Amino acid sequence: MAEPTREPILQVRNLVKHFPLTQGVLFRRQIGAVKAVDDVSFDLYQGETLGIVGESGCGKSTVAKLLMSLEKPTSGQILYKGEDIAKLSSRALKAVRRNIQMVFQDPYTSLNPRMTVGDIIGEPFEIHPEVAPKGDREKKVRELLDVVGLNPEYINRYPHQFSGGQRQRIGIARGLALNPEIIICDEPVSALDVSVQAQVINLMDRLQNEFDLSYLFIAHDLSIVRHISDRVGVMYLGKLAEIGSDTEIYDHPTHPYTQALLSAVPQPDPAGRDSRERIILAGDVPSPANPPSGCRFRTRCWKAEARCAEEAPLLAIPTRFASDDSGASHPSACHFAEEKDVVHA
Ligand SMILES: Nc1ncnc2c1ncn2[C@@H]1O[C@H](COP(=O)(O)OP(=O)(O)O)[C@@H](O)[C@H]1O
Ligand code: SF4
Ligand SMILES: [Mg+2]
Repeated sequence: MAEPTREPILQVRNLVKHFPLTQGVLFRRQIGAVKAVDDVSFDLYQGETLGIVGESGCGKSTVAKLLMSLEKPTSGQILYKGEDIAKLSSRALKAVRRNIQMVFQDPYTSLNPRMTVGDIIGEPFEIHPEVAPKGDREKKVRELLDVVGLNPEYINRYPHQFSGGQRQRIGIARGLALNPEIIICDEPVSALDVSVQAQVINLMDRLQNEFDLSYLFIAHDLSIVRHISDRVGVMYLGKLAEIGSDTEIYDHPTHPYTQALLSAVPQPDPAGRDSRERIILAGDVPSPANPPSGCRFRTRCWKAEARCAEEAPLLAIPTRFASDDSGASHPSACHFAEEKDVVHA
């Protein structure tokens, strides 16, 4: 982990993305909306890794696409170094987009099989030739291969000649090509074998220090981001349930959803499990087109009460923990936030 500063490089404010649901072929009528991202706010500090964790379909990739300007928000703001990117001139936006790059989930489908590795890694230079003039590109690409631990002599090979882990190294090299400040990593190791995941995460950790990068690191499982994250945000059905430092989230979670997710994290040491409770997360995630009233987690929450159906909990530091220095004092969107000693299954 790099030493993060307390300067936010990105500020996400009340971000909303609703995908319209339409019916009819000739006269398309909007009959509803998929509330993929519904009022999400967080900061990404310079040099830090913010992990974003949640089950499939909770809106993680949509957040990533909004930050990359690949999707337009329904409402809300994304501030880059304090400036609203929606209000930038096209030239200024192009510079911002250069500084925010992405590494995708699936290294098998995200690399064009008909392009050589050299062309894949060098592709961003076509859009931003100012970073590497034509004559310098091959040298730059060879350097990038070396930086991610691949043999520069592989420059003319094709993606199918590499393993999954090597392909993700190629994806990372492409993400680094333009010397970005921020890399949005959308489940970069989820498609890889467990044995390879740690190698790729270690590489990303090293690159973060070397190039002073800020990472937004998306995963569907808390155990994957633990090693690399300075802070973690837990998402459920388009909203943040809880956000805090790694210690706050892993050792002092106060939201029932985070506690349930942690309960499913394998723990190497089986000692002392007996006194703690194991939480089994029952049922499926409801549809984001028709989320439950009040707290969205209430249909799966073992603590739900009448109030939970009526009143949506705000993401805020629970008052009872406001002046507490135990680690529980961090934002949690639950009316009944409290610590719980869970079995790490
Ligand atoms: N372009 C789209 N049109 C309609 N619905 C979408 C679109 N992209 C994503 N969704 C829906 O938004 C929700 C969140 O998706 P996504 O952000 O991909 O979740 P995650 O990455 O956490 O699995 C899902 O219900 C998904 O089906
Ligand atoms: S607000 Fe209610 S339903 Fe939601 S997480 Fe808290 S206790 Fe569970
Ligand atoms: Mg996704």
